[in-house]
Order: sequence, then C-alpha cells, then structure tokens
Amino acid sequence: MAMRGSRLIMFLVLLYTYIDYNVSQSPHIIFIVADDLGWNDVSWHTDEILMPNLDTMARAGVILNNSYVQPMCSPSRSAFMSGYFPFHTGLQHDVIGASQANFLESKYKILPQYLKEKGYATHIVGKWHLGFCNWKYTPTYRGFDSYLGYYVAAEDYYQHNASNGYDFRFNTSVLNTTEYSLDVFTRRAKEILTTHSINTPLFLYLPFQNVHAPLEVPEIYEKKFANIQNRNRRQYSGMVYALDEAVGQIMKVLDDQGYMNNSVIMFTTDNGGPVVSGANNLPLRGAKTTIWEGGTRGAAFVYSPTYLHKTQYTHNGLMHAADWFSTILGAAGVDIPDGVDGLNLWDMMSNGSNSTRQEVVHNIDDMYNNSAIRDSRYKLMFGNPGRYNTWYPLPGVDGLCQPVSEITDLPDVQLFDLLEDPGEHYNIADQNPHIVQRLTDRLNFYKKTAIPARYPKGDPESNPDNFGGVWSPGWC
Ligand SMILES: *[C@@H]1O[C@H](CO)[C@@H](O)[C@H](O)[C@H]1NC(C)=O
Ligand SMILES: *[C@@H]1O[C@H](CO)[C@@H](O)[C@H](O)[C@H]1NC(C)=O
Ligand SMILES: *[C@@H]1O[C@H](CO)[C@@H](O)[C@H](O)[C@H]1NC(C)=O
Ligand SMILES: *[C@@H]1O[C@H](CO)[C@@H](O)[C@H](O)[C@H]1NC(C)=O
Ligand SMILES: *[C@@H]1O[C@H](CO)[C@@H](O)[C@H](O)[C@H]1NC(C)=O
Ligand SMILES: *[C@@H]1O[C@H](CO)[C@@H](O)[C@H](O)[C@H]1NC(C)=O
Ligand SMILES: *[C@@H]1O[C@H](CO)[C@@H](O)[C@H](O)[C@H]1NC(C)=O
Ligand SMILES: *[C@@H]1O[C@H](CO)[C@@H](O)[C@H](O)[C@H]1NC(C)=O
Repeated sequence: MAMRGSRLIMFLVLLYTYIDYNVSQSPHIIFIVADDLGWNDVSWHTDEILMPNLDTMARAGVILNNSYVQPMCSPSRSAFMSGYFPFHTGLQHDVIGASQANFLESKYKILPQYLKEKGYATHIVGKWHLGFCNWKYTPTYRGFDSYLGYYVAAEDYYQHNASNGYDFRFNTSVLNTTEYSLDVFTRRAKEILTTHSINTPLFLYLPFQNVHAPLEVPEIYEKKFANIQNRNRRQYSGMVYALDEAVGQIMKVLDDQGYMNNSVIMFTTDNGGPVVSGANNLPLRGAKTTIWEGGTRGAAFVYSPTYLHKTQYTHNGLMHAADWFSTILGAAGVDIPDGVDGLNLWDMMSNGSNSTRQEVVHNIDDMYNNSAIRDSRYKLMFGNPGRYNTWYPLPGVDGLCQPVSEITDLPDVQLFDLLEDPGEHYNIADQNPHIVQRLTDRLNFYKKTAIPARYPKGDPESNPDNFGGVWSPGWC
C-alpha cells in the first residue's frame, strides 16, 4: 500500500515535471511585424510618437537596439520565415512584385512547419509577401493552420486592391470586404485567441499592414495629431497610433484568456522608414530600400511577464532578421536546423547574455551591385547604397517630405565607425585600410556563398482579369 502510494506520488511528480517542462518549453509566441516603421517612429526613440501599449511592453521587456532587418519587405520576411540570409535564397533584390513569378522557394521548410512538429497551432494574420503564383507558396500550404490577409506588397486599406486586382483572403477563399484592414486583422487575432485551447502552444504571426503606404487611417486617429501640420506625418502618426491600439486590444485578450503568463511577445519592423510617406529615421542616415542604417536598423523589442530573466533595459547585442527564425525556435524548444544562417538568440533575449552574432551582412545585391557588412563596431559598404543617401528631417509645415538635397557622388568604398558615428557621417575608409581589408575579406567569404538574385520580369499571366479581378495563384 505504502509502496503503491509512493509510486503514485512518484508518478504524479514525474507527470507534473513532464507537464511543467512542456509548458515552460513551449510558450505561446506572438510575433508582431509592423510594416515600414522607421527608427524615429517609435515612442522609445521620440516623444512625438504615441504608442502607449507597445511602449509599455518595450520598456517592461528588452529593447533590441542593434536589431537589423533587410532594406525591404520580402527580403526581411523571407529571413523571418526561413532563417536564411536573402542572398542565400535569391530574394536579396527589391521585393516580390505582384506580377512576378517570384517566391520563397518551397524547398525551404519554414518557421510554422517546424513549430507544428513541436505541437504548436500556427496562424498568420496580415501581409504575406513571399509569393503566391502557385498555391504551394501560400501560407496554408506552408505550415499555417489559417491565414487571413493579403499576398502583395501594398494595397488600399479599405478597397484591398493593388492596381487592377483585389487581394484579401481567409485561407484560400476571397474575403470581400471594405473594412479597414487593421480592424479585420484585430478581430481575427482575437477570434483565434478566444477559440484556441490555451493548453496547446500557439504561434501567432501578426504582420500588420500598418503603417505602409498608402497613408490611410480612420479620421479619429488622424485627428489625435491635429497639431502636426504635415499631412503625411499626421496620417502616419495616426496609423501608428491605430496599430498600437490594435496591439493593446490583442494584449488584453491575451490577459483575459490567461495566455499572458505563458507568452512571449516579439516585435519588429520589417525595414527602415520610407521618408517619402511620412516615416522618419533620424538620427540615422538613409531610408527604406537603402543599406544605410536608416534602411536596415530596425525598431524591435521582446516582452514576456515570465520568460525574461532580465528586463527593463536596452540590449545592444547584434541581431539579424534571420535570427528571429532561430530565436523563435529556441524559445519554443525546437532544435535549430542545420545550415540556416539565423542564430538562436533566446539566451540573449531571455537572460541578457551577449549576442553570439559577431557580424551582420546587410546585403549582397548583384543587381544594384551593392553590399555591406558590419561587425561589433565597423561597417563597410560597397557600391551605391540606394536612392536615399542623406539625413531626412521630419517633414516640414510646407508639406515637403524631402526638403534636403540628395547626395549623389558617393565613393565606392565607405567605412563607418558605428560606435562613434551611428549616423554614418564620417567615411573613414582611407584612414583605415587594414579594417577595410579585414571586412572586405569577410564580405568576400559571404559573397562566395551568395546566389544570384531572382528577379523575373512581370508575367502577363498574373493579370487579375484572368481570375475574376483577384490576384490569384495559378500562373507558375
Ligand atoms: C481556415 O483553416 C482553418 C484550419 O483548417 C479552419 O479552422 C478555418 O475554419 C478555415 N477558415 C476558412 C474560412 O476556411
Ligand atoms: C484601387 O482602385 C481604385 C479605384 O479603381 C484606384 O483609384 C486605386 O488607385 C486602387 N488602389 C491601389 C492601391 O491600387
Ligand atoms: C465584392 O462584393 C461587391 C458587392 O457585392 C461586388 O461588386 C464585388 O465585385 C465583389 N468583389 C470581389 C473581389 O468579389
Ligand atoms: C501570472 O503570474 C503572476 C506572477 O507569477 C501571478 O501573480 C498571476 O496569478 C499569474 N496569473 C495567471 C492567470 O496565472
Ligand atoms: C542605442 O543605440 C544608439 C545608436 O548606436 C546609441 O546612441 C544608444 O546609446 C543606444 N542605447 C542604449 C540605451 O544603449
Ligand atoms: C538562461 O540562464 C539560465 C541560468 O544560467 C540557464 O539555465 C538557461 O539555460 C539560460 N537560458 C538559455 C536560453 O540559454
Ligand atoms: C559581453 O560583452 C561585454 C561588452 O562587449 C564584454 O565586456 C563582456 O566581457 C562580455 N561578456 C562575456 C561573458 O563574454
Ligand atoms: C560592382 O561593385 C564592385 C565593388 O564595388 C566594383 O568593383 C565593380 O566594378 C562593380 N561592377 C559593376 C558592373 O558596376
């Protein structure tokens, strides 16, 4: 009897340990991606931006101060999902155009597929932008249990059209609505949280449309910023505020439904801010589409009430977009697949350890013929960094978005000391040939592994007119 009792207790202890182990190894993970949010467009960098919910989480968690993304959407998103640098998947040049037969190749097993094997439920709500010319490239064929969103780069927030095609779906079916996308996405995220069983780990990927152009936001949000004279900046600020309110609503459901204690919230932008449509990256140089800091240094944080052992500080450890892949797997207790570029920085995020990333390759683009690499201190760039080469002030009262003259004649080789000069004002290449050589060697090492960018011409077969006016799979 006594024997049986102790065996039972032993069994219960083991069972408890087992359950506890599983729970603690598989937190719910909410991965929020803001679109086109610039460095100077978050409240932890400027007082002019209002985002109370995100601000509270950022300051209560860990602000990631050296978290790099790619200069544009598809490349960053391909890295988030695949764990590879875009120059290893052929997606390093520009973004996937709606009419291009381009995609993140299906040979890559992506984040939700790995998480499903660990027992996660996986949902995406928002922008995909990793290809749709064949169903096999779309979310519900790549490990997501459900998808509500759009495939293309940018579209009308209400009409959900991009040029001559409609693009809004629930799983594979067209969802016909004229509601502001943020409201649809927020309702869907809440619905997932209220219908999902809390005991099953959840991966919720929330790549919102906000705050990408076109600048559209319900008037109540814009009106909050009546003091901002510039129309673009006023609307943009309203769009940021609306995004924040949506995040706040979703966080409240996480709390109310009892998820929060077992959740990790990760937040990042996908690229630097486009200065032509209301965004700002000061004090950084350049903008979205460039390999300057203003195009690649991303606003990001991680928050969790329970999984972070060091909080309320800014971490300066290096990170790259591909590391989100491995870090999310690390947080979920999934082994990092061999060969991926992404590093598991969960120890850095949860314990405050130093980053294991020593260098970031910003890009190796054989079509723009530019490339850049940084280590813990220095950044080396080759070629033309892009179309936006200067420091863009906040748009002025007169409505000009680019009131400064451009810089066109740049040297082919530029070196910056980012510790002393995070704004990339002083090219010190000539004075430091040995550093230039060392970083050139590192970049050449990576260049040997790069594959050519895949950037096909638009395919007339893609025309939405062939598919009832809807951007649809079935032409590649
Ligand atoms: C989308 O797929 C999920 C998982 O199969 C399912 O639960 C959901 O009902 C589907 N939604 C639609 C609109 O088909
Ligand atoms: C959506 O359609 C409207 C009306 O046809 C058009 O004016 C607008 O430019 C389209 N929007 C986008 C983003 O393509
Ligand atoms: C959506 O519904 C409206 C009104 O019923 C219709 O005119 C329009 O063609 C529909 N759009 C799509 C993409 O199905
Ligand atoms: C969440 O964790 C806190 C701190 O450990 C605890 O006080 C609270 O009761 C927990 N809430 C739930 C819903 O488990
Ligand atoms: C974040 O990075 C910027 C730019 O390098 C630097 O000036 C700032 O001190 C860093 N913040 C913290 C809190 O370390
Ligand atoms: C965080 O630190 C603790 C204590 O040193 C250690 O047991 C744990 O493995 C670390 N977490 C990660 C993800 O490395
Ligand atoms: C972490 O980085 C800091 C600053 O670079 C360095 O001083 C420290 O020695 C590092 N700690 C470990 C454990 O490597
Ligand atoms: C590409 O860039 C490299 C390094 O900056 C330069 O040596 C080369 O001449 C460039 N090639 C072309 C075709 O512009």
